[in-house]
Amino acid sequence: MATILHIDVSAQAIDRSISRKLSARFMETWMAKRPGDTVIRRDIGQKPPGFISAKWIEACFTPEGQRSPELDEALMESDELIGELEVANIVVLGTPMYNYGMPAALKAWVDSVVRIDKTFSFDLARGDYPLEPILGGKTLVALTSKGEFGFSTGGIRAHMNFLDGHIDAVAHYLGLVSRYFVHSEYQEFKGDRHKRSRDAAEKATVELAKKLIIETPEEDVFA
Ligand SMILES: Cc1cc2nc3c(=O)[nH]c(=O)nc-3n(C[C@H](O)[C@H](O)[C@H](O)COP(=O)(O)O)c2cc1C
Repeated sequence: MATILHIDVSAQAIDRSISRKLSARFMETWMAKRPGDTVIRRDIGQKPPGFISAKWIEACFTPEGQRSPELDEALMESDELIGELEVANIVVLGTPMYNYGMPAALKAWVDSVVRIDKTFSFDLARGDYPLEPILGGKTLVALTSKGEFGFSTGGIRAHMNFLDGHIDAVAHYLGLVSRYFVHSEYQEFKGDRHKRSRDAAEKATVELAKKLIIETPEEDVFA
């Protein structure tokens, strides 16, 4: 049995959101074949996590058991979000591009889950790369929607794409070892190019779900 953490980031509801529709397609395809799998739902578009604070940082650097109730409270939401990630085998992330990068709600989630001695360790003895992920063996499916186009390698706006590379860099520290991206573009241009891009993204999403279903053992090998 697999556990899927299904995260949506769009500020819009599913009737208007392309990234939500893509993540829903992935989940439908998956659950049709694996109805017994566990799904954890985290809608950060509807309910964004709080921003980290001075108290939050202080709490992270205070060992467990030595924290005041106030410091424990500062980490409560982070503990909950990390708990969801820890048990997940696959993270399905539907996200828009906002202002050439990740929506603030997604950055708030990232800031909350990338946490010293919980999701990564830090040791200067490792030289120039002191950070190492604590979690591992997980898969990321990132399903993005963008209003403009040409954000892939070689495209006319590749140099303005601060979304995909950012997700990829951070995912490494969350133990998301296998990473897959599907993109829909042209939303602001409408027309045929948008339809083609959207249709191709939907097809790629369904194909990716089918591929990962085959590759993911039904037995509880993750336990
Ligand atoms: C606040 C905001 C900022 C946006 N910034 C960009 C951008 O920088 N580049 C781009 O290509 N599209 C941008 N868009 C368009 C969205 O990426 C596009 O509408 C996408 O489909 C939104 O995802 P959703 O359909 O899942 O809500 C922006 C949209 C909004 C609402």
